[in-house]
Amino acid sequence: MSTALVTGVSSGMGLHCALELVRLGHTVHGTVRRAEDGAELARAGGLIHVLDVRDAEGAASLVDSIAQSSGLDILINNAGRGAVGTAEQLPMAVVRDQMETNFFSAVALTQAALRHMRPQGRGTILTVTSVGGVVGQPFNDAYCASKFAVEGFMQSLAPVAAAFGVRVGVFEPAAVATGFVDSVARDAVMGDDGSVRDDPYAPLIARYLERASAAFASAQTAESAGAALASAAVAESDEWKPRWQSSEAAVQFVSASLADLDGQRVHGLTSGWIAESA
Ligand SMILES: NC(=O)c1ccc[n+]([C@@H]2O[C@H](COP(=O)([O-])OP(=O)(O)OC[C@H]3O[C@@H](n4cnc5c(N)ncnc54)[C@H](OP(=O)(O)O)[C@@H]3O)[C@@H](O)[C@H]2O)c1
Repeated sequence: MSTALVTGVSSGMGLHCALELVRLGHTVHGTVRRAEDGAELARAGGLIHVLDVRDAEGAASLVDSIAQSSGLDILINNAGRGAVGTAEQLPMAVVRDQMETNFFSAVALTQAALRHMRPQGRGTILTVTSVGGVVGQPFNDAYCASKFAVEGFMQSLAPVAAAFGVRVGVFEPAAVATGFVDSVARDAVMGDDGSVRDDPYAPLIARYLERASAAFASAQTAESAGAALASAAVAESDEWKPRWQSSEAAVQFVSASLADLDGQRVHGLTSGWIAESA
């Protein structure tokens, strides 16, 4: 049985992945920002740590203490959040926060984990990206940039880590019914009363939001996506792959970018989402 560290276990995919790993008999450490948010995993037998993943030093010292006390076999970089807005609307602070939360956090945790996994000659580092880490989407400029960044980092690292016996991969969900939508920063496009701000982008944002809520109406459940994430992390070596999708819907979405050498397929698809007739 393995020892795993999963970030962001207060809710959603991280919680359900951690619960599934506990159910399978693994020792599971989970991070939350507020201790009380770890109650459900703690009741199931998980070990809870308080961490804001943007704190790179705190992240490294947590990894060191787990690795030194019980060893560390699996790191799942799951914590993340979104931000809605197109380039002109996004304050740089929001863009930077997306990179801190979704990219730099995964880099810091991965570096720390590698310092233990590489010498031990084994380990798995699996990072939750998104279909938005493969297909750029309107009004997700900063979010998709942060997820593309993780994909590039992990894809580059994977062959190098593999040479030392460490598996590095990404896990790409499509829409999953979690608290994610509520946690998405919307200040750039929505006023205090919850309506779309009156600016030149308003009609496009309204159409984008309509399309997004339709996609989330048929979203994968957090239980299903979390179980798929856990199962990828503990895959037998002959089943391991560097890229996983959480569902058939995610496979379909990601495939829109395959062999899209001139970018027209993705551009045509996503332009359609905000076209007047959509
Ligand atoms: N839901 C989707 O449709 C979807 C699709 C593709 C990819 N994803 C990705 O899936 C991952 C999990 O999201 P989810 O859908 O399960 O949403 P969720 O239920 O909102 O879970 C997100 C988790 O990340 C944590 N988190 C956010 N910012 C953090 C920070 N600065 N430090 C520490 N923890 C932080 C949250 O903690 P708090 O409770 O403290 O905020 C929460 O535990 C994310 O990386 C997200 O980008 C989600």
